[in-house]
Amino acid sequence: MARMLVTGGAGFIGSNLARRLIALGHEVIIVDNLSTGMRENIPEGVQFYQLDIREVETYNLILDVKPEYIFHLAAQIDVRKSVDEPQFDAEVNILGTLNLLKAAKKVEVNRFIFSSSGGVLYGNTNVPVDETYPINPISPYGISKWVGELYCNFFYREFGVPIVSLRYANVYGPRQNPLGEAGVVAIFASRMLRGDPCILYGYGKPVRDYVYVEDVVEANILAMHKGEGEAFNIGTGKGTTVEQLFRMMADIIGYKVAPVYKPKRPGELDSSMVDYSKAKRVLGWEPKVTLEEGLRMTIDWFRERVKL
Ligand SMILES: NC(=O)c1ccc[n+]([C@@H]2O[C@H](COP(=O)([O-])OP(=O)(O)OC[C@H]3O[C@@H](n4cnc5c(N)ncnc54)[C@H](O)[C@@H]3O)[C@@H](O)[C@H]2O)c1
Repeated sequence: MARMLVTGGAGFIGSNLARRLIALGHEVIIVDNLSTGMRENIPEGVQFYQLDIREVETYNLILDVKPEYIFHLAAQIDVRKSVDEPQFDAEVNILGTLNLLKAAKKVEVNRFIFSSSGGVLYGNTNVPVDETYPINPISPYGISKWVGELYCNFFYREFGVPIVSLRYANVYGPRQNPLGEAGVVAIFASRMLRGDPCILYGYGKPVRDYVYVEDVVEANILAMHKGEGEAFNIGTGKGTTVEQLFRMMADIIGYKVAPVYKPKRPGELDSSMVDYSKAKRVLGWEPKVTLEEGLRMTIDWFRERVKL
């Protein structure tokens, strides 16, 4: 049993990770300012601190509780907000990350696992690309995630903080916020279950690599002991169009409402897929949940919660 700090643990991926860590018998501390996260996501049995990762209180808390592992998921994740307020995005995603890295160095953590993003780092990719593909962020959010990785690398090289960066593809699953910008699966699930129409941006053509949240959680667990100082793509290497996703979900739910087709929104990628061979080789990770299975589990979860 070890002491774990999960930043962003009231959010989608962080709360699923916190659940798994509790189930594995670890002591879990969550830091989250509840800006997009929700109190009801926080599992029983964790210590919760409503704090901002940029604050000195968070730094002091880390010095106080001395976590052995830090899973850093808290972030400003809204691409459009990052375009409107790049300074705020940088404050949270860069300065917030630096605050945590400084504390991680001070308490000599066993691991600092940084949640990065494949899609926003690589830009448009028509085939699954590996970690050597040129980094080309096109939004302030992508820039801040990349700078976060660079700071992780700096703290690793310069001070020996054992970091791992995980570059997720499009993550979906239970507890994703359907009111957010991202998360087309959560948006479709809640709209379809209510019988509301769904909008297919880019006329349903954009291609994404959808990875189930439990697989992403597993990557975080494996990264506790492997892959020090490295970055890994965490995705399936399979592309699915929004139209295909819509059809699969409509079939599972028995939803008959015709979709509304609209042009792509500014800054949206046409296609994004990642190659996960390095994660397989080094971490021993591979996605286990098929899209069909993952969608069924996600829809079941939303069915219980969506107010019809
Ligand atoms: N969901 C995806 O498809 C995806 C893809 C690539 C990378 N990521 C990364 O994974 C991580 C988790 O994403 P998510 O989808 O669970 O998002 P989320 O919005 O559900 O979770 C983020 C959490 O961080 C908290 N937070 C935000 N700013 C904070 C601050 N300043 N101080 C403290 N807490 C703060 C929010 O309240 C929220 O609970 C993020 O770092 C994101 O960039 C997600």
